[in-house]
Amino acid sequence: MGTVIAIANQKGGEGKTTTSINLAHGLALEGNRTLLIDMDPQGNSSGIFIEPDHIEISAADLFLQKADVNDIIQQTRYDKLDLLPSKINLAEVELGTVNVEAPYVLRDAVSRIRDNYDYIVIDCPPSLSIFTVNALVASDCVVVPLQAEKFSIDGIKGLQNTIESIKRRINPQLTILGALVTQLKPNTVLTKTILPVIENYFPVFETFISSGVAIGESHLSKQSLLDYNPGIKQAKEYFSFVKEVIHGTKK
Ligand SMILES: Nc1ncnc2c1ncn2[C@@H]1O[C@H](COP(=O)(O)OP(=O)(O)OP(=O)(O)O)[C@@H](O)[C@H]1O
Ligand SMILES: [Mg+2]
Repeated sequence: MGTVIAIANQKGGEGKTTTSINLAHGLALEGNRTLLIDMDPQGNSSGIFIEPDHIEISAADLFLQKADVNDIIQQTRYDKLDLLPSKINLAEVELGTVNVEAPYVLRDAVSRIRDNYDYIVIDCPPSLSIFTVNALVASDCVVVPLQAEKFSIDGIKGLQNTIESIKRRINPQLTILGALVTQLKPNTVLTKTILPVIENYFPVFETFISSGVAIGESHLSKQSLLDYNPGIKQAKEYFSFVKEVIHGTKK
């Protein structure tokens, strides 16, 4: 049964999508059958693999009960990596305020395909919306990408509270795998001031992802960074993060 990992942070631009794409591809490169689920109506991680106009059925159809999960999943051009895409129509899905099933849609879908994968990586939207809740309910563990900056630290308590309440009420086995520091700039006052604050809330991965233009370039060329330029510093850092995740999720 595959391990399900949510990549979550309600703050925008912290590196969720970059981390989801490269974690998923890295796990596949390590020989794991991997599924990347895009739970963000922005469809950023889907766009690496498919033109948004070419996505016919997607995550929205799962929530509207219009398609089975098996019909939504597509193979990607990368060996061992599949994608459950989303597009902007996911934002229009109205789950209804009294729909008690709403938080469980993704968990039910994942339970039907879990045996086909070693890892399932879920890219969450920048909000604590029902889609992030669905991801956390469906997951075994969470990775929190965040920048080593003041505003990034400000929202960390809200995220911790959400994770804790989902754990307490719905998904007791949910664990926090760790916070991944992304977009680290040289000479950041990370270790002295920011790192201890993050460590108050979450364990922190040993690997940090430094800031570099190759990340944006890889998105533009619609490739994972590990494919676009595997020799570059940030790709090596993502490889080492992938190793930490594999180590941290060994059963
Ligand atoms: N290590 C990095 N170095 C430089 N730029 C980066 C790095 N990681 C991410 N970025 C850039 O930061 C921006 C946000 O990254 P990304 O889309 O991965 O974050 P996100 O948390 O998924 O955002 P959103 O909340 O909008 O979904 C992008 O423009 C991306 O190219
Ligand atoms: Mg994103």
